[in-house]
Formats: sequence, structure tokens, C-alpha cells
Amino acid sequence: MSFDELGIEYGTMSKQHVFKKLSLSEEFAIISFVVLLLGSLIMGWWVSRSIERGVIQQTAFTTTQFLDSFVSHLIGELSKTDRLNRTSITLLESFDQNSPAGKQVAYFNLWEKNGRLVYSSDLSKIGRDLSTRTELTNAWRDRISWDVIDPNNLDYSVFDRKKGDLIGIFCPIHQARSDRILAVAEIYLYTDALQAQIYRAKVQSWELVFAVTLSMFFLLYLFFRQISQTITTQQQLMKFQVMQLSDLINNNNELHKSVEQAQYRTTEINESFLRRISAELHDGPAQALGYTLLCLDSIFDKYSKELKDPTNESIIQKEKENLRTALADALDKIRNLASGMAMPELDNLNLKQVIQRVVSIHEQRSKTNVDLELDIELSQGQIALPLKIGIYRLIQEALTNAYLHGKGIKQRVQLKKNDEELVVIISDNGPGFDYPSDYSQDQHLGITGMKERVLSLSGHFEIQSTPGSGTKVIATFPISPGK
Ligand SMILES: Nc1ncnc2c1ncn2[C@@H]1O[C@H](COP(=O)(O)OP(=O)(O)OP(=O)(O)O)[C@@H](O)[C@H]1O
Ligand SMILES: [Mg+2]
Repeated sequence: MSFDELGIEYGTMSKQHVFKKLSLSEEFAIISFVVLLLGSLIMGWWVSRSIERGVIQQTAFTTTQFLDSFVSHLIGELSKTDRLNRTSITLLESFDQNSPAGKQVAYFNLWEKNGRLVYSSDLSKIGRDLSTRTELTNAWRDRISWDVIDPNNLDYSVFDRKKGDLIGIFCPIHQARSDRILAVAEIYLYTDALQAQIYRAKVQSWELVFAVTLSMFFLLYLFFRQISQTITTQQQLMKFQVMQLSDLINNNNELHKSVEQAQYRTTEINESFLRRISAELHDGPAQALGYTLLCLDSIFDKYSKELKDPTNESIIQKEKENLRTALADALDKIRNLASGMAMPELDNLNLKQVIQRVVSIHEQRSKTNVDLELDIELSQGQIALPLKIGIYRLIQEALTNAYLHGKGIKQRVQLKKNDEELVVIISDNGPGFDYPSDYSQDQHLGITGMKERVLSLSGHFEIQSTPGSGTKVIATFPISPGK
């Protein structure tokens, strides 16, 4: 049988979602692409943000260094006086407005210790007492602060607001070769040139992130495609084996049914065979013996006159009686055998009636009493004929043993229903025996026959007996076996 014949297709698994028609590797490709894309978007966003912050921070740092070294030379006089002379202001002005570095400066203030402006890009503000800002206070404590600032939030006027965001920096200006802070610089830089640089760096980082993501995706896809092919092959192989196995189980069940039916048939054939032998015994040898007995009497009557010799009479009479007894005994045995073999017609009896019948026959023949406990309700026709025959024979043999070996003491037959099982128990309070150690299969057929019979009806057979505590034969049958 090929995979095609079995209708096995690549990747057919029971899925109730939109991926129903996709193969395992295609499913993986979609899921991993989405996951990697999300991951790369988060990573790219984080990297580009870090680049931006890094570039701005670097700019702020370089500017601070530059201001600290360059401006401190121009304002050296602040160590002696609290104002700048005209020359220093002009030098600062030319740095602020004309130098190449100054082209990036939007606005520049230089604060003296007591919060007075010693220099400002807006020259008109020089000398004013203006500031109480925290950044200034921090800078006087030797701390640098910087931030990206929207130009519209700044009230200074002399710069080009159209150039976009500014970097605002507050940094201390130290006296040359000393830790002493001479002034605090407040400087705002245009970011237009930086933005172009940041933009290029961001594009490069996004390109890198996407290139790495795509390579990872491609490698993972190749790897998983390999695995998924192996999984699919294994799945197909397993399905094939499961099908073979279920075929085998089905065949086995069919065989089991056939065997059970054969056993049922055998039981029926066996019983009809026994019935025939019984009839033959009854009609053949038993009739012949009965006839012989009658003949014997008439022969002795006919020749009685010639046998009247008083010396022989008593001997002949004795011989006659012996012969008669032997023949009557043989006739009895044959009749018993025949009646034991034959079984009443059970077809029209329900199970309770079957049990009552076998028990009553036993009571009549053994002249003993049997307690009956039939504690169940069964509908007519629920018990198949072979099962009725089996139970009849089982009780017959177990009661015979109870009578012969258990002295017929407290013989009892019980029938119970336990879920879907019938339980038949035959017990006595006789001497009991050690089963199975005291039991030899070679010499006795009764127990072996009972067991075989029960097993052939898919039942379970058990004997509970110990010397001195009676015997219990327990047989359990599934109701309607083989159906
Ligand atoms: N109810 C019982 N009480 C005491 N002993 C028993 C009982 N049933 C069976 N036995 C013991 O088990 C032995 C085997 O019993 P089994 O029915 O197989 O053979 P059997 O009755 O001796 O001969 P048969 O083959 O004619 O039945 C008996 O000989 C007897 O010793
Ligand atoms: Mg027996």
C-alpha cells in the first residue's frame, strides 16, 4: 500500500486555523518572519535612538571641552574683576558670530557668579542680572547639563528659529590650570548639520539591522525546512504503521470472533452428540438388558420343574439372584449414564429455569437438598444458548463433586450479576481439598472439563478450597459473549 493510496499528503495535520493548508515549513516561515520583523523593528528603533543620543552627547561634550579651554583664555580677567573689558567682549563676539565653529552657535551667554550676564549674543543684555535657572546653579557646582530644545520654547531672540531643534548646554568655564570656576557658559547650537549626520547613521544602522534579520531568517528557514521534511516523513511513516497496526487489530478481532463462534458451535455439536449417544444407550443396550432380565425370569420359571432337584435348587436360586442383581445393576448404570449425558431442551428456558432444572435433577438423583439463590433479573433471550449449556454443565459437575466428595453438606448455587458479567457460585461445606496442589489432571476430568468450558465461553474460572473449610467453585461470564 502506498502513501498516495492511503491518502496521506504532505503536512496534513488536524488544524483548525488559517494555516490549515500550509506545510510545516511555510507555517514556520510566516511565524518566524513576523517575530524577526518585530524584533528587528524594536532593535532598529533602539539603535537609531542610541545613535542620535550618542551624537548629540558627543557634540555637547566636545563643545564643553572647547568652551572650557578656549573661552577661559578670553575671560582670564574675571579672576580679578567681575566684568569683562571691551577687548574681551569683542573677541567673544567675533568667536560667537564669525568663526567657523561660531556658525553653529545660535545663542551664547556667559554668566558671572552672582547671576549677571558678562557676555550675550544679544549685546544689549550684557550687564543685566537675569538668571536663577537650575542648570546655572548646577554648572556653578561643576556639573554640565545638556538637552535638545525646541527653539519656540526659548525666549532669546537673535537666532534663526527655522533651523529646527537646538542643543542647549550649560557648562562651567574654569580658570586656566585651576579648578576655580570663572563663569558659566550657556550655549545653544543648531542641529541641522548634525541631523544630516544622524540621518545617515540611522539609515546605515537600519540597513544593517535588516540585512542581519534577513540572513537570520533565511538560515533559520533552511534549517527548519530540513527538520520539517524529516518530521513529515516520520509522520507519514507513523501513520502508515498505525494503519497497518489497526488492520492487524481488526484481523485479530475478526479471528477472535471466529474462534468464539467455532467454540459455540462445538459446544452445540458436542451436546447433540452426547444426546445421540444417550439415546442410543437408552434404546440399545438398556432395552436389551431390560429384555434379558425379563427373559431370565421366564427361563428360570420354564425350567423350574427340571431344576427341582433339592440338592441344586438353592445353588441355582442363588446363581439366578446374582445374575439378576448384576444385570439390574448394569441396567441402572447405563440408564444413569444416559440420563447424565442427555440434557433437557434448554432453548425455551431462561437462565433461571435452566439452573432450577439442573439443581432439581441433582436433588432427585442424589436425594439431597440444594440452596438456590438466583438474585438477578434477565430479559428473555439475553443469554445465548451455548452460555446456558455451559452453565448447566458447570453446575452439574460442581454439584456432583459437592455430593460425591463434599458429602452433599450445605450445597448451594448462587447466580449474581456484576456490571456486564454473570457470576455463578457452587459451594458446599464438605471436607474441602487443597487446590491446586492436591489435584492431578491425569486422573480426574471433572475440574479440567469445567475450567475448559468456562474459558471457551471467554469466562474466568476459580476454585476456593482448603481442607476443612468447604469448596467454592466460582465462574464469571461476560453477558452475550462474542457479540
Ligand atoms: N466439592 C469438593 N469437595 C472435596 N473435594 C473435592 C470437591 N471437588 C473436587 N474435589 C477433589 O478434587 C478431585 C478432582 O475432582 P474432579 O471432579 O476433577 O474428578 P473426580 O470427581 O474425582 O472424577 P470425575 O472425573 O468423574 O469428575 C476429586 O477427586 C476430589 O478429591
Ligand atoms: Mg468430578
